[in-house]
Amino acid sequence: MSLHRHREGHKSMVHVRPGIDSIKLYVPGRATTGLSEIGELPYVPLASNESPFAPLPSVVKAIEEVVGKLNRYPDPGVYALREALAAELDVPLAQVAVGAGSMTLCLQAVLSTCGAGDELMFASPSYEGYPLLASVAGATAVKIPLRDGAHDLDAMAEAVTDRTRAIFICNPNNPTGSTVEAQRIERFVEEVRDDILILIDEAYAEFMGDPIKTVGLSLVRRHANVVSLRTFSKAHGLAGLRVGYLVGQPAVVEVVQRSHMPFNTNTLAQAAAIASLKDRDGLAARLAEVRTERAFVLDGLRQLGLPVRDTFTNFAWLDLGDQAEAFAAEMGRHGVLVRPLPPHGVRITLGDRVANERALATVATVLATFERDLSPA
Ligand SMILES: Cc1ncc(COP(=O)(O)O)c(C=O)c1O
Repeated sequence: MSLHRHREGHKSMVHVRPGIDSIKLYVPGRATTGLSEIGELPYVPLASNESPFAPLPSVVKAIEEVVGKLNRYPDPGVYALREALAAELDVPLAQVAVGAGSMTLCLQAVLSTCGAGDELMFASPSYEGYPLLASVAGATAVKIPLRDGAHDLDAMAEAVTDRTRAIFICNPNNPTGSTVEAQRIERFVEEVRDDILILIDEAYAEFMGDPIKTVGLSLVRRHANVVSLRTFSKAHGLAGLRVGYLVGQPAVVEVVQRSHMPFNTNTLAQAAAIASLKDRDGLAARLAEVRTERAFVLDGLRQLGLPVRDTFTNFAWLDLGDQAEAFAAEMGRHGVLVRPLPPHGVRITLGDRVANERALATVATVLATFERDLSPA
């Protein structure tokens, strides 16, 4: 019997559901946790929009307190965390679902609404996970190009068909960092059929400003077909624990939860997320630091002559078009891992000051090796 490895290009002998064979495997940013082949140093990991900060001390303490209970299953109803979120967001408990990262909740939402031949719409470029969700559900991905770096909601409304079942609006958008005005999103929700699930993916909401105002939450209160997706992976710095949440009216939350696998949010993640929500000052201090670093990096990139848009997130976006792959490869050769998203551009996550200085110096070095001007035509 031959050994079948799950790598692109390896053929399996087992029967495969139609459509699965053509799924393009998700290519993650290179891991730098020390468990990967590259090891911890000397790479500067700016490819995956992670937080550069270790979890807050209060969060580490909460994790330590539950380590001795790992012989037990996690709370399948995730009650304590859902209660904390419901209180934080001022919504009833029935409006909150928690999962192993917001990506798991996105998958549940798509599996519950889209089947073979149905259409899942999202912008392009937007979060790289969305096409995978469509393929796994057997749905058709409908990609609507951004206009001027932001969601083109006119074009998205026009592209709706009888088969459209769900639409992602990534706000702020990964990878461009752009946002759409709350009133424009609301108008879009009113323009499209109300049997279409609208997912406002707000993974980067905390970086937008203080206090955090999410478009999704205010829409959820008025529209039964809208959900807001949030995560502890970014601002809260808990990407390695996998915990995210979804907020919607009770009926739509129930629809999403029909595709839920029990126990997927582990005990450490539940305890850590509760502690992180409680530590408001700790989070606020880190968000302030991210804003300072954001100004530093955007300014540095502009001084290098790069046309960089404002960003409302923890990453910067370079419109490098078909130069993206070569630019990122060159950055990688100099020890700075950034994310190429050809043919659109390169995304650079904000790090701490040391990482950001190294990134800017490396961008300067790499720019000098490119013969042609990297500004878009
Ligand atoms: C826009 C967006 N949505 C969802 C996710 C997935 O986040 P999580 O770690 O909560 O699964 C990401 C992660 O990069 C993202 O950028």
